[in-house]
Parts: sequence; structure tokens; C-alpha cells
Amino acid sequence: MNGNMNGNMNGNMNGDRHHPEGSVVIIGAGTQGRRLAYMWSRRGGPVSLIDLQEQQLKDGLKYVQKLRTEANDLPGSWGEVRISHPSSLGSVLKDAWLVIECVPERLPLKQEVITQIDYLAPEKVVIASNSSSYGIGEILVGLNLKHKNRVLSAHCYWPPETTAIEIMGHDETDESLISLVLDQCRVHGFSPFHVRQNSIGYIYNRIWAAIKRETLLALSEGVCTPQEVDAIFKDVLKSPKGPCEMMDVVGLDVVLDIENHYANTRSGVPIEPRDYLRKMIKKGGLGVKSGHGFYDYKDTDGEIRS
Ligand SMILES: NC(=O)c1ccc[n+]([C@@H]2O[C@H](COP(=O)([O-])OP(=O)(O)OC[C@H]3O[C@@H](n4cnc5c(N)ncnc54)[C@H](O)[C@@H]3O)[C@@H](O)[C@H]2O)c1
Repeated sequence: MNGNMNGNMNGNMNGDRHHPEGSVVIIGAGTQGRRLAYMWSRRGGPVSLIDLQEQQLKDGLKYVQKLRTEANDLPGSWGEVRISHPSSLGSVLKDAWLVIECVPERLPLKQEVITQIDYLAPEKVVIASNSSSYGIGEILVGLNLKHKNRVLSAHCYWPPETTAIEIMGHDETDESLISLVLDQCRVHGFSPFHVRQNSIGYIYNRIWAAIKRETLLALSEGVCTPQEVDAIFKDVLKSPKGPCEMMDVVGLDVVLDIENHYANTRSGVPIEPRDYLRKMIKKGGLGVKSGHGFYDYKDTDGEIRS
């Protein structure tokens, strides 16, 4: 499988070359991978997008084109986006400076992919994980890598207009690589934040986890209704959505998985928020995707019916 999209109208690569020599390789062309292909190609550097599924690669290219069309950046500055199957990973990595794994959120899969990258990539290549729930320190537990000091987390957000990205190393990550990635994120239009310690949860995720947890605790105590939580949150913080609306969008099963992860890795996490979620999930309330969560979404295409 081969293909490419060169955003430079003249077909050459004379765009704004503020990036290290070499390409950025992104493994996984799903929701985040295709968005990252857009970001990392927007200053003229080439990107290789890799996925097991040909359809994902084709859809990924279309998505990159859509974001480019919507953006105000000069078309001539785009870098080339090439697509390929994981079987060509070894050759693709030879000319890379950064590789980002963006495969589904399953720890054994992340570990397998990072081990394979470390085996195949030349020593100079920085390896990043976009995992939302597993910091790089957790992913590396039990792995025997050749060059552990070049591995870090680079976690970005959704929707695509959110430019925040959190960079976190583990105990042995080379600090100069963290600086390099922070600089390059800035150059490519991200707003990078450095997580200064090996943390269970990124900076924003920890804040958001506390908001969700306290919301669920207040609901479980009968202090307020979901409508009241959202109304007061939006009124005070001028946020377009409240915590219950946001949890419905993410999916209550996903919210529970994340909270379970915190509860398994630290002490003092109250049980009531998880019990509250479990009861909702048991009744089929998963949020927007099941048509019901804190609100009813039946036949509304994601809009709140009541
Ligand atoms: N979706 C979000 O809003 C979001 C936000 C921040 C971080 N993340 C993180 O990004 C990562 C990816 O999430 P996503 O939502 O893009 O997932 P996704 O399911 O949309 O995409 C994953 C892609 O990886 C491909 N894939 C699976 N195994 C592969 C392999 N061995 N080699 C190559 N490709 C493979 C799949 O075919 C799929 O296209 C996860 O770790 C997630 O936690 C997601």
C-alpha cells in the first residue's frame, strides 16, 4: 500500500522548514493520528502515517486535506503526508526524527508497538506515546528497550482546535529530547506543557478527574441534579458545557475506566463516584452513544432531548 499527499502546489518541499531533519512517523491513523498528521506536516516537514487498515489511511488523508482547506496557513508550506502499512515500518523509520504511537488505548498493544519501534528505529529517533491513560513510565514497566532514554509521552487533546499538548518523560528520559519536542510542538502550532514529574495522569486530566469525581460525589449524596451541576458550572466558568454533559459525550463507561485507573494507582479515591457510575451503566446509560446518560439523546444526533 502506498500513497501520498503533497500540499506544496509546486510539488517540492520548500515550505517553512523549522523542523529537524527527517520525518515524523505516526502509527495509527484514527481520530488522533490523522489530526497529528495535519499538525506535524504544517511547517513543511514530511509525515508518514501508518495503519493496519487501508481505509483508515485513506480517510486519514481526506481528513488532513479537510483541515488544510479550513486553515489559514499558506498552502505552499505544507509537508508531504505519505501513507503505509506497518510492514514497512523499518524502512520508514530510517529517515525519521520523531515517531508517535497513536494506536488504541490497550496497554499490551502500546507496549508491543513501542518495543517494536525501539527495535527498528535508529538511536537518534525520539519515541512518543499519545496514550491518554498511561503515562510513559507505566507503559515501560517490564519492557526491555535498547534506548529507553529517548521515550516520552506527548499527549494531545480533542477537538482539533485544542492546541494543548502535554510532554512527560520518565525517570530516565533525556532532558534535551524533552526540550527538543517542546520546541518543535511550539513551532508546529501546539501549546506545549511540560509535566515536570512522572505523574499518574496529565496536568489537565488530573484537574478534570477531580471535577468529575466531585460532581459524581455530590450527585450520589443528592446534593443537586445533573441539570443544576451543569447550569452552575456554565454560569460561573462561562464554559459551553457542564461536567455531566461532557461526561455523556466521552461515555460513562470510559469515565469509569479512567476513574478505576486512578483508584488502582493511588490511595484515597472515594468509591461513591464509581458506584454511582456503575449503577447508571448497569441500566444501559453510557451517555450520547447509548442514547441516554445524565440526559436523554434518543434520535437527536447527540443533542440533549431532556
Ligand atoms: N480520541 C481522542 O480524543 C484522544 C485524545 C487524546 C489522546 N488519545 C489517545 O490516542 C490514542 C489513539 O486514540 P484514537 O482515538 O485515535 O483511536 P482510534 O481507534 O480512532 O485509532 C486507532 C488506529 O490505530 C490503528 N491500529 C491498531 N493497531 C495498530 C497497529 N498495530 N499498527 C498500526 N495501526 C494500528 C487502528 O486501525 C486505528 O485506525 C489512544 O492512546 C488514545 O488514548 C485519543
